[in-house]
Amino acid sequence: MIKKTELPNRLDVLMNMLRPVEVFIDVGSDHGYASAYALENDLADRVIATDIHALPAERTAKYFEKQGLSDRTRVFCNDGLRSLQVHANDAVLIAGMGGYEIMHILEEALSEGAVEMGAEFLLQPQRSFRELREFMARKGIQIRDERIAEDKNKFYVGILAVYTGKVYQTDMISAVLGPVILEKRPLYFEPFIRDRWKTLKKEVLGQPELRPVLEYVEKVIQTL
Ligand SMILES: C[S@@+](CC[C@H](N)C(=O)[O-])C[C@H]1O[C@@H](n2cnc3c(N)ncnc32)[C@H](O)[C@@H]1O
Repeated sequence: MIKKTELPNRLDVLMNMLRPVEVFIDVGSDHGYASAYALENDLADRVIATDIHALPAERTAKYFEKQGLSDRTRVFCNDGLRSLQVHANDAVLIAGMGGYEIMHILEEALSEGAVEMGAEFLLQPQRSFRELREFMARKGIQIRDERIAEDKNKFYVGILAVYTGKVYQTDMISAVLGPVILEKRPLYFEPFIRDRWKTLKKEVLGQPELRPVLEYVEKVIQTL
């Protein structure tokens, strides 16, 4: 009997936002856990996993074999979404990378016309949230949900978005902190916002344009 994949909290919270899709595309799959979880929990019919490095790609393929999932998966050693098509009923996961790396992957796929409208994205950048959310607004990648995960006193933000192609405006506060996080105040909002306050206090020294965000966070903290 094969034991189902258990995800670290960071990925579990992210994958909880996914509705069932045809193809789940795992960019930077590394171990392949998120993809295996998607198949084992009927969240996807098929999986395409890619990793830029050969070793993680091999690790992913081996894990799929161990879990008995090889016939529903394809693994490539590939940069981002290169040479792949993302259809309307598909979802792309890009987690555990910097915001700029995620933007590079999305930019390339969009500029090649490789993404159909309606395709979903599950994104978990490690940094550069503001830049990533501003990029998404410029490209018409609409944020639908955001959740916070906590792991060893570190907070991870996951974003579920859909490609609509409709460009929209975002303000600095939403771009830095997350529009859904501010509106819905999901689980871990309070420790997350206190943690952001500490970081913003330092960031504002080098980036004075962040001062209104810091002041906003201070007001929010007073209401908690
Ligand atoms: C820190 S791991 C994260 C793995 C997994 N996505 C997670 O969140 O647990 C990042 C993985 O992304 C891969 N990677 C980095 N840049 C990439 C790119 N442009 N295209 C595909 N894979 C990439 C790395 O080789 C590494 O295996």
